[in-house]
Amino acid sequence: MSIPETAKEIHLVDYPTGKPTPEIYEVVEAPVREPGDGEILMRVVFMSVDPYMRGRMNPHVKSYIPPFQKGEALDGGAVGQVIKSNSEKFATGDYVVGYNGGWREYYTGPTDGFNKVDPSLAPLSAYLGVLGMPGFTAWAGMSQILEPKEGDVLFVSGAAGAVGSMVGQLGKLKGCKVIGSAGSTEKCDWLTGELGFDVALNYKDYANSTELTKGLSQAAGKGGVNCYFENVGGMHLEAAINCIAFGGRIALCGMISNYNDTKPEPGPYNLTNLIGRGVKMQGFIVSNFMLLARDFYAEVGPMLAGGKIHFRETVYEGLEKAPEAFNGLFEGANTGKAVVRVAPDTA
Ligand SMILES: NC(=O)c1ccc[n+]([C@@H]2O[C@H](COP(=O)([O-])OP(=O)(O)OC[C@H]3O[C@@H](n4cnc5c(N)ncnc54)[C@H](OP(=O)(O)O)[C@@H]3O)[C@@H](O)[C@H]2O)c1
Repeated sequence: MSIPETAKEIHLVDYPTGKPTPEIYEVVEAPVREPGDGEILMRVVFMSVDPYMRGRMNPHVKSYIPPFQKGEALDGGAVGQVIKSNSEKFATGDYVVGYNGGWREYYTGPTDGFNKVDPSLAPLSAYLGVLGMPGFTAWAGMSQILEPKEGDVLFVSGAAGAVGSMVGQLGKLKGCKVIGSAGSTEKCDWLTGELGFDVALNYKDYANSTELTKGLSQAAGKGGVNCYFENVGGMHLEAAINCIAFGGRIALCGMISNYNDTKPEPGPYNLTNLIGRGVKMQGFIVSNFMLLARDFYAEVGPMLAGGKIHFRETVYEGLEKAPEAFNGLFEGANTGKAVVRVAPDTA
């Protein structure tokens, strides 16, 4: 495959206040650099949009990952084909997935965080979702923090998203009663239909945490919620803390309802419940568990191949759609994993 002289990438022009607007991005035609020693040149097929990228648009907030720089290309997960390799790790023609390489048509750079993928086992885009970072996040939060047991009641917010849809299915496979929350009837129907959740709550039917507490309490039954997988924050966290069982566990994975806030929202009013009920609440970042990646693939690969795990993707066509795809995360536009097809999938 020939190497083009230039290709498109999306640059950050300005940091957003609140929800990102189209003006903060610029599509730039940039030179395609030849790979140096130990580097690869990858033709990107799919790129990922993920909620954590909003945190990288806050230049003054100290985080586990540095902010994007104005005037430079954005970055993030991508899957594609190596078209030139100066690395011993990959050969020309290999399909690879990495934590870098998104928001552009071609990636030239080091291979850290890149792994070879087998396009005959799953569609390439799945390596950004169910078999990628979000699937691994779900698996890690469940296996390393919540540790659900048969008969436990598991509640997951953001349940129709990339992480949440996996969490609920893993819970069902463990023999839990699974309650999910999502933002539309269609999403709730998917949860209780194809994914086998026991109950799905459309959180838009509940005006505040008191109302949501009533709905969740009724769904959970007398014993309450043993495990809560937190993706959303705000009234979801308050309702979950109200309903948490004695000895319950809460995994703090994300709080997407706060990511575009321009001032901090008050925290949950009811944390005292955690003391008397002996609840463990623990935050985590998926990279904390990177050494367990092989265990994730060993467990989830066969589940997927055996039809025990289902997934959906919302695919945006063309690199220029990346900003729209990203904003869609905050608007509930995706069901399952949101990805952008940057080039035809030739695998
Ligand atoms: N800790 C980690 O290492 C890690 C790794 C990956 C992801 N995460 C976190 O996990 C969460 C889910 O990520 P994901 O990749 O699976 O995204 P996703 O759930 O596929 O997409 C985001 C979803 O969040 C929901 N949402 C957006 N704004 C909301 C609001 N104000 N209130 C309630 N729901 C809202 C929307 O669904 P509805 O239609 O249902 O509103 C939207 O589709 C995020 O908080 C993310 O930051 C953490």
